[in-house]
Amino acid sequence: MDKSAELQAKMAEAMLGGGEVRIASQHKKGKLTARERLQLLMDEGSFEELDMLVTNRNRGLTADQEQFLGDGVVTGYGTINGRLTYVFSQDFTVYGGSLSEPHARKICKIMDLAMENGAPVIGLNDSGGARIQEGVVSLGGYADIFYRNTRASGVIPQISAIMGPCAGGAVYSPAITDFILMVEQTSYMFVTGPNVVKTVTHEEVTSEELGGAQTHASKSGVTHFACSNEIECIQYLKQLLSYIPQNCEETAPVYAYEPGNETREALNTLIPAHPNQPYDMKEAIAQITDTDSFFEVHKNFAENMIVGFARIAGRSIGIVANQPAHLAGVLDIHASVKGARFTRFCDAFNIPLLVLVDVPGFLPGTDQEWNGIITNGAKLLYALSEATVPKLTVTTRKAYGGAYCVMNSKHIGADLNFAFPQAEIAVMGAKGAVEIIFKKEIDTAPDPEVRMNELVADYQERFANPYLAAEKGYIDEVIPPDQTRIKLIKAFKMLENKVVNMPRKKHGNIPL
Ligand code: HXC
Repeated sequence: MDKSAELQAKMAEAMLGGGEVRIASQHKKGKLTARERLQLLMDEGSFEELDMLVTNRNRGLTADQEQFLGDGVVTGYGTINGRLTYVFSQDFTVYGGSLSEPHARKICKIMDLAMENGAPVIGLNDSGGARIQEGVVSLGGYADIFYRNTRASGVIPQISAIMGPCAGGAVYSPAITDFILMVEQTSYMFVTGPNVVKTVTHEEVTSEELGGAQTHASKSGVTHFACSNEIECIQYLKQLLSYIPQNCEETAPVYAYEPGNETREALNTLIPAHPNQPYDMKEAIAQITDTDSFFEVHKNFAENMIVGFARIAGRSIGIVANQPAHLAGVLDIHASVKGARFTRFCDAFNIPLLVLVDVPGFLPGTDQEWNGIITNGAKLLYALSEATVPKLTVTTRKAYGGAYCVMNSKHIGADLNFAFPQAEIAVMGAKGAVEIIFKKEIDTAPDPEVRMNELVADYQERFANPYLAAEKGYIDEVIPPDQTRIKLIKAFKMLENKVVNMPRKKHGNIPL
């Protein structure tokens, strides 16, 4: 055979992965192949494949094993919207995308290149886990990847899309990466599957219930995005990348922005007159940020906390906000961890933070205490204190108790703190405060209820406002709500060159 025909034949063989029949079976399950996914993800003609001809030459345990060029994973680099990105895409048609030693080596190779060249790594996961025929070398391959994931954490963005099975120890590579996206109905993640669960705990559960996209998007918070299909998943991947820089030394791409009238009158009427009436903080976000730029992360998990990316005057920011429309915006374990994790990502990758505050406090109760609201609430406090990116706060309404301190108060390093005139910044809500301070007086009053109402009204008048905090300089400016966007554009611009020198240390000890 002539030399170039030989090469063409090998390439054609590699392109087919596990062969036509298995490709058809993949399609029948409603899934795309590894190469089809890459075609959708990468800019046209930009993908350069590496290690296409790698095979599994281990003839020990696997003497009669069929050989496939590529060994179950397509790896390489290319561009996404013009930006260099490294990528691996597991090929389920080859031994169910299971991870052999050469398969792992291919992934490690592109991770090493990504680290050396400062660009994101995206993993498209679709795998039956460890290549069973291989034994311990497969486990070693996983551990090699986990180690690289950890070394790369905070240096380059790492994103995992789960587009098929991801089970057993294999889940821990995505878990270490910055973001996970899952596809509804065709992907699942769990440490042990339904059969093991049934044997050990006698629970009957389907794969979807145990570890499907909806489960992890709403119950566990393991996935940041649940996508309705693979196309949407790939769109989300591209959108996510548009807000983040290539590596920890760079800043995120800046988008074109035409300055205009930045007054937002809708904000003047957003906060209800009654302090206990809910409103949707996402409406405030939509008013403050560039049109349609808000990209919510962890949308269905701990909905009392909102996190996500947006742009202000064309520049990426990360938003951490209480959501008074859900559980009154209270801080609980999940909300704290959600906010903390997002904050740390933004800080690691030079994305300025905007914190919107309307929080009645931490959620009381045995469930919260026994599950560690102390340690978990401290994560948010630690993450916001530790962050050195520009940090702005807008208190729209309540900022009570410990939650005041935690939600990016001046004391933990916020650069500028704004408050609406409706803000209530105090140790606790009026009723709770009065019940404690004036207990005797209320109990002995001729009409305790009337006296209590008088005292609550008095407390509300004197303490439930932003002016005591403004007098101390804890609030830099009380602003008319319609001026919020203008103030934030100017403040983020003013903080563009912020530098903070941290005390010398190996690393901090966030309360895990
Ligand atoms: C080798 C595997 C494989 C594996 C699947 N295949 N998983 N080959 N090692 N782990 C092969 C099958 O033999 C089959 O080959 C092809 O992939 C497709 O598999 P099917 O079973 O036909 O597909 P499907 O019905 O869709 O089921 C997919 C599956 C199932 C749910 C993933 O295959 C499965 O349960 N596989 C085993 C999962 C597992 O136990 N893995 C090890 C976990 S331990 P042919 O030739 O027919 O196409 C682990 C530890 C990691 O992963 C630890 C890291 C620290």
